[in-house]
Amino acid sequence: MPSTRTIASSAIIPVIAIVGGVYLKYPSFHSSLCPQTCSSDTGNLHSGYFTYECAGKPHHSSWSSWWHPQRTNGTLAEHKQGAGAITNDWNILYHLGGNGPWVEKVIDVIPGGIAVPEGCEVEQVHMMSRHAERYPTKSAGNGQKAVVERMRQSPKTFDSNLAFFNNWELFWSTDESLEQLTSTGPFSGSLGSFTTGVRLRTRYNHLLTKALLSTRPTTFWASDSQRVIETARTFALGFFGIDYQPNNTATLQVISENRTLAADTLTPGRTCLNNKKDRKEGQKKGYDLMAAYVASYMPPIRARLLDHTGMSFTDKEIYHMQEMCGFETTVRGRSDWCDVFTQDEFLSFEYARDVLHYYRAGPGQKYAASMGWLWLNATTNLLLEGPGAGPLFFSFVHDGDIAPMITALDIINDEVHLPITHIEHQRKWRKSQVCPMGGRIIFELLSCRKKGVDGEEKFVRLNINDGITALPDCQSGPGRSCPLGQFAARTKRRGEEVGDFRQLCGVDADQAEGITFLHQ
Ligand SMILES: *[C@@H]1O[C@H](CO)[C@@H](O)[C@H](O)[C@H]1NC(C)=O
Ligand SMILES: *[C@@H]1O[C@H](CO)[C@@H](O)[C@H](O)[C@H]1NC(C)=O
Ligand SMILES: *[C@@H]1O[C@H](CO)[C@@H](O)[C@H](O)[C@H]1NC(C)=O
Ligand SMILES: *[C@@H]1O[C@H](CO)[C@@H](O)[C@H](O)[C@H]1NC(C)=O
Repeated sequence: MPSTRTIASSAIIPVIAIVGGVYLKYPSFHSSLCPQTCSSDTGNLHSGYFTYECAGKPHHSSWSSWWHPQRTNGTLAEHKQGAGAITNDWNILYHLGGNGPWVEKVIDVIPGGIAVPEGCEVEQVHMMSRHAERYPTKSAGNGQKAVVERMRQSPKTFDSNLAFFNNWELFWSTDESLEQLTSTGPFSGSLGSFTTGVRLRTRYNHLLTKALLSTRPTTFWASDSQRVIETARTFALGFFGIDYQPNNTATLQVISENRTLAADTLTPGRTCLNNKKDRKEGQKKGYDLMAAYVASYMPPIRARLLDHTGMSFTDKEIYHMQEMCGFETTVRGRSDWCDVFTQDEFLSFEYARDVLHYYRAGPGQKYAASMGWLWLNATTNLLLEGPGAGPLFFSFVHDGDIAPMITALDIINDEVHLPITHIEHQRKWRKSQVCPMGGRIIFELLSCRKKGVDGEEKFVRLNINDGITALPDCQSGPGRSCPLGQFAARTKRRGEEVGDFRQLCGVDADQAEGITFLHQ
């Protein structure tokens, strides 16, 4: 029997990665987000590392401990409150549309944090997580490289907010890095996934203790993609401890992403054949609508850059420059690209990314809900089985698989589909908060006792990027959780609404009907 143990590794690796979100409060109307204002009465508290947070430092260590040879000195620019600055009402990390570091969800969350409601205990958890911070995909990376090379060939010496470019180097040196986790800087994917493991170990230590009592290892799952697998393995170091493999504590099961797997998959976006084939209502819709919206905000930027550099940039080139703000940040900790554009221009960029994902794999397209319902159904069955089914279920996937599940769950669905003519400032669907790099949704099975009443009742509570989020139509439980019976009825009803996966997706009727691997 594996023994309970302490984790030397988590003590050695400094507790560093309390990323972005900690010093935020609620957004103002314009969707900008505010750091906590520093109260002057913290002066006499000798216990406080909060002063660090107040100084705008994202971690317990200072920025200087994250020195990187190519990280330019951003202090001045930050103090001038360019787009890259974190000021009283602006944090760029909330406007990168899924290209930037993990941040907490802060809109539409239940106040009070993630503490378990009084009288309740978490009996089982299910997590669906995106891989952690990564380099650009090949296609985004190639586009970024192309615009950088074209600028290099310009005889011009760039000035003002492009002056950095004269000495700037691309943030990857070999194309083998593309698509893979980043491994340097405070916002690196290696650190982010490890920290997530430690965070969950902190919350769910009692469930880990239970799992360790079992004679069998805990299975966790990753879709068959290097960055997803690495995220799962690094998470496991933080959660289960460095000896998890030799001690047979946990086993990673890799699930093929092959399009032939039908419904028995973690990546239904690939196995739902019509999602790829249907160029109008399938995933392509997202790219088309994004391009339409992008065209609406680019002309003034193009004119300004032409004036400034003598070069005329295409919509795509400007979009790639905006993308580099987030991607460089996950490698070097900051990026001068963030200061090339105004805050409004980043609000537009953010919205473009929201439109992309909303219509590519979210509520705005035809197949997403049916695709996402597969995992939701399997997970609901496990919640109904209760602790006997095992305490811990962790699945690692891509963002294109999380958006469908959120769609099936019907939890961040806007009443009206996102317009492409202007920014809908009141929208709930914000990619930065719904699914940043490392984005995750956790289902907690709560067992609660009422004072003076015998027996316990079960509820499901949803944690999206550490913002507890209520289901719009089911929140009568403690901490606005959903009674388990109602939750199950809801999943069943959604199954009827979203339609049969095989039929809708153009998959043969003799292929797998649902997920078979999700069990301990
Ligand atoms: C970075 O900026 C700070 C604040 O403006 C300045 O004091 C410091 O000398 C700069 N460091 C370098 C290496 O330029
Ligand atoms: C792993 O198992 C070995 C052999 O039983 C044991 O000595 C070691 O303490 C275990 N490691 C942990 C972290 O429990
Ligand atoms: C997917 O599976 C099919 C059938 O098993 C196989 O022929 C094909 O080579 C696989 N494709 C990939 C990319 O692995
Ligand atoms: C959904 O769950 C039910 C109840 O266990 C099961 O019978 C059915 O096969 C599942 N459907 C899918 C598509 O996973």
